[in-house]
Amino acid sequence: MLFGKRILLIIGGGIAAYKSLELIRRSRERGALVRVVMTAAAQHFVSKLSAASLSGDKVYDDLFSLTDEAEMGHIELSREADLIVVAPATADLLAKMAHGLANDLAATVLLATDKRILAAPAMNVRMWLHPATRRNVATLLADGVRFVGPHAGDMACGEFGPGRMAEPAEIVEAAGVAVQGDTRLPLPAGLDLRHDRPLAGKKVIITSGPTFEPIDPVRYIGNHSSGKQGHAIAAAAASAGADVILISGPVAIADPVGMRVVHVTTAQEMYEAVVAQLPADIFISVAAVADWRIAEPAGQKISKSSAAPVLTTVENPDILASVAHRAQGRPTLVIGFAAETQNVIEHARAKLQRKGCDLIVANDVSSAHGVMGGTRNTVHLVTATGVVDWPTMDKEEVARRLVAHIAALLPAKTAGEKS
Ligand code: C5P
Repeated sequence: MLFGKRILLIIGGGIAAYKSLELIRRSRERGALVRVVMTAAAQHFVSKLSAASLSGDKVYDDLFSLTDEAEMGHIELSREADLIVVAPATADLLAKMAHGLANDLAATVLLATDKRILAAPAMNVRMWLHPATRRNVATLLADGVRFVGPHAGDMACGEFGPGRMAEPAEIVEAAGVAVQGDTRLPLPAGLDLRHDRPLAGKKVIITSGPTFEPIDPVRYIGNHSSGKQGHAIAAAAASAGADVILISGPVAIADPVGMRVVHVTTAQEMYEAVVAQLPADIFISVAAVADWRIAEPAGQKISKSSAAPVLTTVENPDILASVAHRAQGRPTLVIGFAAETQNVIEHARAKLQRKGCDLIVANDVSSAHGVMGGTRNTVHLVTATGVVDWPTMDKEEVARRLVAHIAALLPAKTAGEKS
């Protein structure tokens, strides 16, 4: 499909630029004629000489080069190709494209072209998920720019998530498709952003924060849960396209955007709120639910002058266990958390069995670790088949990884249910 086609490859300045050299080679193997434009930043990562040797042509990089303009003006450069491929399409290049900037040769060619553009984004996960980049990508999609990738994975910057550039072989495939047909055709599989929304169409219920169990109208039994981890998971699930219902106990942090948030105070209220939202595809029980409540909270404030009160407690409903053991309408995936102060894995394994869930995310909340209320977390994923230890990371990062993990688990679980 690429045989005899002229590709103008614009190499942006990112670590993934080394893959673009391979892209040149693979495109030429398919019979394409490749001409290369490099940004100034790209030349920090790969040399013009490498790109020129592999493409068998000179590399263009200077908007104001007299020689280049005499040989072939930038307008001609932008029009003589059959397809423009931008790889890596950095956050900066996407922003320039979305806003029509023309302050270097690459941006000018992209603005001046009347040809199809295929972009292979590559950037840090936070940059890719940033609302500014989301807006730019949405604008470019509406303008008819096609995308291949990015994919989720471990990144050069040490983070994990969507942002890795598609592999050269995949970009060549996508280029073969993009160079055919009409831009108004539906986007071929793999060229849209759906891979970035792996939980699209899935309903996810998440509990977060503590519960407060009243002793009297002014006093309660509570715990140190801040809601940070649960809220971060809710935000990550919403970013992954899920329809999220966050059921939050009393917390001091703001409601995350892009979801329905139900505020509750007690474990009983949390239980009722969860049941009212069922059925769902996924239930993630992050809340630190009080195991007991005061049997009969006092109707009036207990006076200090009265005898020291004896508090009689009764057990609260176990929300996680009751959802996981539902005979009908059990969510496909039920995930619990286990906050432990000792024998973390052993207790988590027992909890997995007892509660009947599919996965327990165990964490050590002994005060030395500062998890409760803190911003970082060290978790272990405990399932019936084994334990996976994750390094210590920000709660947001735990959330993103967990959502990616859930998205990977879901198809197998769904298939298992059907068979
Ligand atoms: O038994 P334990 O409280 O350690 O279990 C922790 C897990 O169970 C968490 O996922 C928590 O949200 C859930 N849980 C619950 N309802 C309770 C107690 C715990 O859903 N009453």
